Amino acid sequence: MERTLSIVKPDGVKKNVIGQVIARFEKNGLRVVGLKLATLTKAQAEGFYAVHRARPFFASLTEFMTSGPVVLMALEGEGAIKKVRDLMGATDPKKAEVGTIRADFADSIEANIVHGSDAPETAAFEVGYYFNALELI
Ligand code: CMP
Repeated sequence: MERTLSIVKPDGVKKNVIGQVIARFEKNGLRVVGLKLATLTKAQAEGFYAVHRARPFFASLTEFMTSGPVVLMALEGEGAIKKVRDLMGATDPKKAEVGTIRADFADSIEANIVHGSDAPETAAFEVGYYFNALELI
């Protein structure tokens, strides 16, 4: 059993596809063990994406992530980290495989609908960043 953090980004919430994203996770054996709707502050988004702070897209990414509400969720399942990444597809929707969340819903590498942790260490950091133990089932 593994846990991972996923976010339906502001573009996903605006496009009204929260349910469709979660349904894809559930249909593929993942269980929602933590769930919140929130509008991130700039400081929260900057802290979450701190590993990217030297990248040229950092300011734009954190601006985008604070542009509207997001859905924060902790997911649990066998091989959850890779499963979520496979279901999301490549970061750039133009490169995402047919049938993935990003291929189906995303507009650009920045507005790419969904986030998923990329490794066990980042998953532990990211789940803990948004959820405390009492908020996880
Ligand atoms: P995410 O999985 O949330 O992790 C970091 C995010 O940075 C990524 O999804 C993209 O939304 C964004 N990102 C990555 N590369 C670029 C890029 N070249 N230009 C703009 N945004 C990017």
